[in-house]
Amino acid sequence: MAVLDPREGFQRWAACYDSGDNALRKLSDRAVREAVGEHPPGLILDAGCGTGSWLRAWPRAVGLDFSPAMLSRCPPDRVALADLAAPPVRPDSCDLIVACLTLSYLADPAAALRLLQRAARPSGRIVVVDLHPAAHQAGWRRTFEADGQTWEIRSRPDRLAEALAAGPGPGWAEQQREAVSFRWEDRAWFERPGAPEIGRVVSVPALLLTVWSRTAVF
Ligand SMILES: C[S@@+](CC[C@H](N)C(=O)[O-])C[C@H]1O[C@@H](n2cnc3c(N)ncnc32)[C@H](O)[C@@H]1O
Repeated sequence: MAVLDPREGFQRWAACYDSGDNALRKLSDRAVREAVGEHPPGLILDAGCGTGSWLRAWPRAVGLDFSPAMLSRCPPDRVALADLAAPPVRPDSCDLIVACLTLSYLADPAAALRLLQRAARPSGRIVVVDLHPAAHQAGWRRTFEADGQTWEIRSRPDRLAEALAAGPGPGWAEQQREAVSFRWEDRAWFERPGAPEIGRVVSVPALLLTVWSRTAVF
């Protein structure tokens, strides 16, 4: 299988990103909704907004992404082309920052997290959901089909998990850090050709969900 660098990978994946039946995406959507509710209040930054599913769900969300092809599918007035290695964010501006299936693609997720933290208002939150390093260790990969072949996009969930385990630093609290797994009732998500048996995935920690909240003004 060809392994692509994230920048090239998402340019290729964009055309079919929303057409696949993607169980991991369904799981991450549910995990985010359970963490923040259906309609979180205030200004939301979707870091690595992809094709904009959270922007459509949340009218007060804005998005950043470095893939023009992914962004071309988003509401145009609420997104900007940007690398999360240097996100153009206004300090103290956001009530909620969501990074869903994104930060594991960065070479230095710890640095990106520190920069995103600056964008949070006092009592603002950062929610990070990504592939669990144990799932990556077990051989799970983010792949897609295009041009008659399967492509993988290079990612490092272990680096992201290390950055999250180091904690949010002064003025912040870790509210939640937990493994999220598929449930038996998700079996319909796996009823398609080529999908694994639900029994093979329920015991694997599929996602790592982390919520940090800003506790102090400094
Ligand atoms: C798997 S998609 C997830 C999209 C969306 N968050 C979702 O949950 O459907 C990952 C997104 O992160 C973006 N991305 C990856 N690395 C990035 C970086 N360094 N800066 C900005 N965006 C990045 C990709 O272009 C892609 O759109």
